[in-house]
Amino acid sequence: MQQYEGWQEFKNKTNEEKAKILSKKDGNLFDLIYAQQFSKDGLEELFLLADTVRKIAKTQKGMNFLRTILSDKRAMLFFVQPSTRTFLSFLNACQILGMQISEIRDTTTSSEVKGESPEDMIRTFSSYVDLIIVRHHDEGFAERAAWTLNFHANRTIPVINGGSGKDQHPTQALLDMYTLKRADKVEGKKIAMVGDLRRGRTVRSLCRLLSLYEGNEIYFVSPKEFAMKQDILNFLDSKGVKYTVTDDLESVAPQVDAIYSTRIQDEHDKDKESSNVDISKFCITEDLINKLKQDAIVMHPFPRRYEIDVKVDKDPRAAYWKQGRNGMWIRIALILKVMQRDKVIYSY
Ligand code: NCD
Repeated sequence: MQQYEGWQEFKNKTNEEKAKILSKKDGNLFDLIYAQQFSKDGLEELFLLADTVRKIAKTQKGMNFLRTILSDKRAMLFFVQPSTRTFLSFLNACQILGMQISEIRDTTTSSEVKGESPEDMIRTFSSYVDLIIVRHHDEGFAERAAWTLNFHANRTIPVINGGSGKDQHPTQALLDMYTLKRADKVEGKKIAMVGDLRRGRTVRSLCRLLSLYEGNEIYFVSPKEFAMKQDILNFLDSKGVKYTVTDDLESVAPQVDAIYSTRIQDEHDKDKESSNVDISKFCITEDLINKLKQDAIVMHPFPRRYEIDVKVDKDPRAAYWKQGRNGMWIRIALILKVMQRDKVIYSY
């Protein structure tokens, strides 16, 4: 397959260098590919924007107003990896802002099967739409799409990463931080990340955003087979964020302000290795929740299997259903920002 000139050179840069290049056009947030692109001020701005949109959306008049903000624009949802929440929350976010939407959810229905390169495919989308949101099993796909459009083809169409391989899920981290913020647990807090930390992309992106606030401490709680990878531990070291690696959830639980549970990512198994690992010690049961602080919260990016007992759902500390709702509002804020229509909100 042919490759566009300059791609290899861009690909070989570090994520930090790439984040700088893709972040801004005319001083505004543009492509959103990596969690590293956010600053604390940038996050706070999005949280305020999302809170303001929520208030406006409480009335029919407000909803009618929101529907006019991007009614002249169209979005493409290119989601070729399984997705329920991320897909639906982006879809509804676009609809609330009045955008027209096209979608591809399966590469077997696109010209990829005829041997078309990802670059040509993305350039084709850009003939029809003003914003592209992608979820792909290939770790580099979102950055490749953004580079192709905005640096190779010179099209000013933002790309948002809705989840890329095992690596990053920046908008999930955004909604997780928004959920922590609304529960006043974003600064000087203890957060336990539990489950498959080696292959879960949401925890990786969340660690990067938690490091932007002062005094947070992270507990990585997992079986040794699914321990957090060294690159994130090195990153936290470089930011001076304290962390503990352990497999003892019972003794960590009473100390933390939030538990972030994740499922075993066995779709990445090479040889059914997950089936040999006992994860019963890493589940959030009624027993375990009784050991938590009164005001702690329990989070999960979902989908869940058995790692949080459904009996926990009725406990007021269960925050995972709120996460889904927060996701739609914070994605609205992000779309407003990358489409440079955020100021309109404050004119209402
Ligand atoms: C997560 C994902 O896709 O990484 N789901 C989501 O987007 N809410 C978590 C998961 O699949 O386990």
